[in-house]
This record gives sequence, structure tokens and C-alpha cells, in this order.
Amino acid sequence: MSRESRPIGVFDSGIGGLTVVAEIARQLPKEEIVYFGDTARLPYGPKSTPTVTQFAIQDTEFLLRHDVKVVVVACNTASSVAVDELRSRYDIPIIGVIEPGALAAVSSTLIGKVGVIGTEGTITSHAYRERIRQLDSEIEIVEQSCPLFVPLAEEGWTDREITLVIAHEYLTPLRDAGVDVVVLGCTHYPILKQTIQKVFGPSVTLIDSAEETARDVAQVLAEFGIANDSGEEPAHRFFVSDVPHRFKEQAERFLGAELPNVEVVGIDELMAAGR
Ligand code: DGL
Repeated sequence: MSRESRPIGVFDSGIGGLTVVAEIARQLPKEEIVYFGDTARLPYGPKSTPTVTQFAIQDTEFLLRHDVKVVVVACNTASSVAVDELRSRYDIPIIGVIEPGALAAVSSTLIGKVGVIGTEGTITSHAYRERIRQLDSEIEIVEQSCPLFVPLAEEGWTDREITLVIAHEYLTPLRDAGVDVVVLGCTHYPILKQTIQKVFGPSVTLIDSAEETARDVAQVLAEFGIANDSGEEPAHRFFVSDVPHRFKEQAERFLGAELPNVEVVGIDELMAAGR
């Protein structure tokens, strides 16, 4: 297989990374995608850095067995703590979601006050804060973890009263701090975008890093001369480590489109890959 026609590998702890898949498919319709959602070990958000790094290595090894030309870490938690380790181990380009989200936040804030929301792992790593500060040291950053947002998004409770109450609880301190831009620093959060926007009101810009990440992927493919120009319709493949029917249901609800067969990769096979 030529380098150009090899697939793009994308992984996340579950369905969240599909926000990135949808954007890659929209911006790069000729590229084939192999997706892995680690549903057996979700959530990554509350787990330690060594554990998430080990999972990220195993997820990457699995994708490499499918001969992927780049790996997109479509999980904010894994991107926050494991991207450097992956880059030091592998020769192919590794694309995370922090850099594109941080860049978009810096270019969108008009008053220099940015909010970042994410899982506990992402927030305690301060990965966004550090990257934003490197880009512009004057920017004030307010961070908040919102652990209940992931199960709410997975449950499809996007516009329930309870979701709005919880969103108010988490987000009021950021709103009171007067931020004008908020980074949705978790791949699940775009699913709750409308509720989050309701709390902040229309004057606050929400950054969805999926769009920015897909742009990064396009740039990397062009830079390395490995973009696919063939006229064939790509056949994407979706793998999970457990309960494929639940993933399929959630994914179809969330993408609003039918998904091809979801295949299962056994946890033993996965663990053997990254030792
Ligand atoms: N995909 C994770 C992230 O973007 C959220 C879900 C989880 O905690 O595993 O941080």
C-alpha cells in the first residue's frame, strides 16, 4: 500500500473522539480512518498519568497494526499527559488536541481572559494553561474540571433540566470571572455545547478543538506529502474494546448517521501490544 493511501488512525477512550472523526471526514473526505474507542477502560479522565500513558501506548500500537500513516490522539486527557511519550516512541506524526485548541483560544479572546474546562486529568495537568501561556503570557486563564459532563453526554442527556443545573454549578465561577472564550477541553463536551452556551450566553465563544485538530491533520498530511488523492470512497473502520452495540447506538445518536459494523478488539490483545 502506498504511503498516501494508508489510513489515518484516531483513538479516544470512547465515543468522544468521534467529534474529531466527523471533522476529519468533512475536511478530508478522501482519507480512510481507523478509529479505536477504548470503551472497556473508559473513563481516562480520573486516572493517573502513568495509567493513561500506558493505555495511550497500547491504543497507538493497535492502530499501528492497521498500518496508519498518522495517529490522532482524539482524547484531551491522553493528549494532556501522553503525547510527548508517544512522539518519543514513534516515527510517524502524532497529533494531539491541546495545541490546536490552545491556538484557537489565543486567537479568539478579545480581552485576554480564557476559561478551560475538561476532565480532572486534563485540568490537573494544566496542559492547556501551559500551552496558552507559551503563546501569550499575558492571558488570564481560569480552569475547571467538570467530571459529570462525560456521563451526561454518554447518556444523551444533552438538553435536560438536570444537565443545565449541573452546568450552572460548574460554570458559574468562570462566567463570574468574565472570560470571553471557553475551551471545551474534552472530546465529549461539544455534545453539550448548547447547554454550556446557555450558561455563558451568546457573548462567550466556545472553542471546539475537533475542527482545529482536523485542520492540523490536513496540514501535517500536506507537509509530509502523504495526503490521499485517490478518487475511491474511503471505507472507515471502527474498533472498541468492549460493548460494541452500545458504542454503535451512542455514536449514531451523536453523529446523526449510521455507522458501519463496530469490531471488538480483546483487552488481552490490546495489553499485549504495548508492553
Ligand atoms: N475522551 C476524554 C477526554 O477528552 C473524556 C472521557 C474520559 O474521561 O475518558 O478527556
